[in-house]
Amino acid sequence: MGRKLLLDKAHIEGIRYYDTYRKNGGYAAVEKAFKMSPADIVEEVKKSGLRGRGGAGFPTGLKWSFLAKPEGVPRYLVCNADESEPGTFKDRYLMEFIPHLLIEGLIISSYALGSHRTYIYIRGEYAWIVDILEQAIAEANQAGWLGKNILNSGFDCQIYVQRGAGAYICGEETALIESLEGKRGNPRIKPPFPAVKGLWDSPTVVNNVETLAAVVPIMNIGAEEYSKIGIGKSTGTKLISACGNLNKPGVYEIDMTISVEEFIFSDEYCGGIANGKRLKACIPGGSSVPILPANLLLKTAKGETRMMNYESLADGGFATGTMMGSGGFIVLDEDQCVVRHTFSLARFYRHESCGQCSPCREGTGWMEKILNNIENGKGKMSDIDLLWDIQRKIEGNTICPLGDAAAWPVAAAIRHFRDEFEWHVTHPDEAQIRNFGLAHY
Ligand code: NAI
Ligand code: SF4
Repeated sequence: MGRKLLLDKAHIEGIRYYDTYRKNGGYAAVEKAFKMSPADIVEEVKKSGLRGRGGAGFPTGLKWSFLAKPEGVPRYLVCNADESEPGTFKDRYLMEFIPHLLIEGLIISSYALGSHRTYIYIRGEYAWIVDILEQAIAEANQAGWLGKNILNSGFDCQIYVQRGAGAYICGEETALIESLEGKRGNPRIKPPFPAVKGLWDSPTVVNNVETLAAVVPIMNIGAEEYSKIGIGKSTGTKLISACGNLNKPGVYEIDMTISVEEFIFSDEYCGGIANGKRLKACIPGGSSVPILPANLLLKTAKGETRMMNYESLADGGFATGTMMGSGGFIVLDEDQCVVRHTFSLARFYRHESCGQCSPCREGTGWMEKILNNIENGKGKMSDIDLLWDIQRKIEGNTICPLGDAAAWPVAAAIRHFRDEFEWHVTHPDEAQIRNFGLAHY
């Protein structure tokens, strides 16, 4: 049984409410943190090895240490709760069932970074969670954990919740900042990074929900102990939202030392493939990361057991590996059609492109059209190479990572399942039959 640091109390009845959360050890981390200096907390987070849980895996303490501190200029902490990556719903679970964990993490992080006005930017579709968060913030205010002179420290802090309006791109940190400023959510060119010029041009740290919640156990158990959980540069625990053709889809907390096989097949986690079917493929880190066929998912190209952590999932690069990403673990059984799946993702990215850069604006539309043709029996063999060519021209040539995110799923699908695309072209009348190509899984 792996160690639980975030969801260990999620099963306690009433944990959503302040009194129960406090009775079960809640806010002890704030008490501990306020006895430390802000700089010491930043050091502690650095030492813990915590990496951003939104998808990029950037070291959190390092990001915090980049925060510029010009005299007389406010600094901001923004919590990215715009969880929109297809297959990703772990932040929703955390905010819905244990909201005070996030509030506690936000208070500590605001203190460490010197943010007196901290924002939670939440996707518009999570409307009911806004109410849960606002209630938790009101309870924290009432109990004196927010507001003026918290714990007689002289530090003032308030947390505000802002709803997005349903655009995926507003999860990209600079688009989020634009939206928070009341503008259209168009990503900005980086650098400058938000740590130097962010919200209202002030130094800003944008961190994911799970990242900020993880600051609480780091304070409680100490960075040293936290850094010993997990393996290598994958320290601590990670929330995984598992979905698709699984017996037990859901949100799991793992300590990143388990294998992908154990995660999919053991009863402690996903309980195997639903309806006795076979595993065909998986996208382990949300829709933007490369899909892997079962053989490369369970073992790396070197024949080593593939583990559920940043390094092992990425082993082999994009030729034979993938990414941990946001932890949105999407499983496809033998009946699923990779072409259909890729078409569905292409449609999503075309719809969500903000349109600022031509490779992304035009390329996502072209990929969707070509995939639609192939999936519906109107494709040509040359379309497969054309698709490959388009995704190559998008990757690395856009302002924000949405371009890459649209290109990578197409590239990986062609790389690993080219014969499935060819079969659709050569069998136009049967193109929508899904149970193709079992021989090689
Ligand atoms: P990124 O790698 O560009 O940046 C990571 C973070 O480090 C950013 O906050 C950036 O400001 C900071 N950073 C990097 N270099 C820096 C420097 N030199 N100085 C100061 N700060 C620096 O990645 P990004 O754009 O933040 O995230 C992309 C990832 O987001 C993708 O890998 C994808 O998996 C994930 N994603 C997650 C979604 C979700 O719903 N959770 C939705 C869409 C994408
Ligand atoms: Fe907009 Fe796409 Fe360019 Fe990102 S890559 S800025 S979403 S057009």
